[in-house]
Amino acid sequence: MKILVLGSGGREHALLWALKRTSSAPLQLYCAPGNGGISQLASCVPVSAADHSSLIEFARMNDIDLTVVGPEGPLAAGIVDQFEHAGLKIVGPSAAASRLESSKSFAKDFMRRHKIPTAAYAIANSAAEALDLLRGGKFGAPQSPVVVKADGLAAGKGVIVATSPAEAEVAVKELSSGTVVAAEASRQLLIEEALQGREVSLLLFADGRDYALMPAARDHKRVGDNDTGPNTGGMGAITDASVLEAETLNAIVRDVVEPTLEGAGQEGFPFRGILFIGLMLTANGPKVLEYNVRFGDPETQAILIRLKADLCQLFQAIVEGDLGKMSVEWSDQSSACVVLASKGYPGPYETGFRLSGLDRIVTGDDLQVFHAGTSRAETGDYLTTGGRVLGITAAGATLPQALGSCYRAIKKVTWEGMQYRRDIGQFNEKLKANNV
Ligand code: AMP
Ligand code: GLY
Repeated sequence: MKILVLGSGGREHALLWALKRTSSAPLQLYCAPGNGGISQLASCVPVSAADHSSLIEFARMNDIDLTVVGPEGPLAAGIVDQFEHAGLKIVGPSAAASRLESSKSFAKDFMRRHKIPTAAYAIANSAAEALDLLRGGKFGAPQSPVVVKADGLAAGKGVIVATSPAEAEVAVKELSSGTVVAAEASRQLLIEEALQGREVSLLLFADGRDYALMPAARDHKRVGDNDTGPNTGGMGAITDASVLEAETLNAIVRDVVEPTLEGAGQEGFPFRGILFIGLMLTANGPKVLEYNVRFGDPETQAILIRLKADLCQLFQAIVEGDLGKMSVEWSDQSSACVVLASKGYPGPYETGFRLSGLDRIVTGDDLQVFHAGTSRAETGDYLTTGGRVLGITAAGATLPQALGSCYRAIKKVTWEGMQYRRDIGQFNEKLKANNV
């Protein structure tokens, strides 16, 4: 089997590692464009994941059996439709189904049509309309928090949780200015009721008919310890039985997962690929914050280290519509991924620093170093190329054991300006202690 993975982050490194580790058949792995760490596992192809026609040509010329898409951009731009049109097999949703992520207003109206619990919202077609909505007093008392979102894809920069409608007015101006988020993405703005509670990421495999859940994960979005500072792509993730109790999971399956998949089918875009549901567990039950139509980063690193099923077969089953015949097994462990990032991230940062100590980490099935932003020099040294650089990922019998493995490994590696959160998973322990 020849498999091509599209993307260049820690998520894609984890996908390639899990493909290799779980496959019963020999695999030849390719990644476009990949990164320094990925180059040790797969042949890196210097083509951007946005260059669909070159990717189709590469897949044809090299007899690629299956392509797996990491990031949302190519999905929203219709890469799956184009590969299928060219007779090539690819894992991911169509452009029509990808609107669940690429248009927040589409996703919210979809949830309203299918009675899927989510925050109250209104859609504005201009900044002026958004300001009118805020001044209309529909979103709570003058001091209550309110959320402003750009409709389109914004690489995590399109959501501002404002502490009051007055602050939200500033957010509307910022999002619609075309500086933080592309004008294209902020043509429509959403104003939402701010929800309170614990956040959970629930991912699943779907083939348009059947689905299989992955272990629920918790992301750590803020850059600083104790959830302080700006939002990032994610500074760490955990999986653990305490992330989502069985009873709440059952309610989410009944009220969110099944209505979403059934709704997509009814509306003519059966969902085939990976669906990521971001939820807030509120006092009034679980509510959807957002859909993503792809694997999460860094959730995927923490999730896939526990996968026991054959990932290649799973991907084939998604394409063939055979998921119902597969049993998807996971190890009975907890897991954690701690992201090591460049100084300054998520703001501007410098790159090109040499990593040291990586060879001192003894990796195995329960401890992996996934590369998110590195290149490999001719000397064999790794250099930083991105904001998020490495994701140290471990599984263990308990969450503290998995975290212990991550943090012991982190002590061995460094570069100039390396930053990371010291409290990944701690918040979870605190919540548990306080019975939240
Ligand atoms: P999204 O990209 O829509 O998931 O938003 C990014 C982050 O913003 C989420 O992970 C939440 O932490 C926060 N957020 C989004 N929507 C809401 C909401 N309605 N209430 C509170 N927080 C929210
Ligand atoms: N970690 C959140 C995301 O992948 O969107």
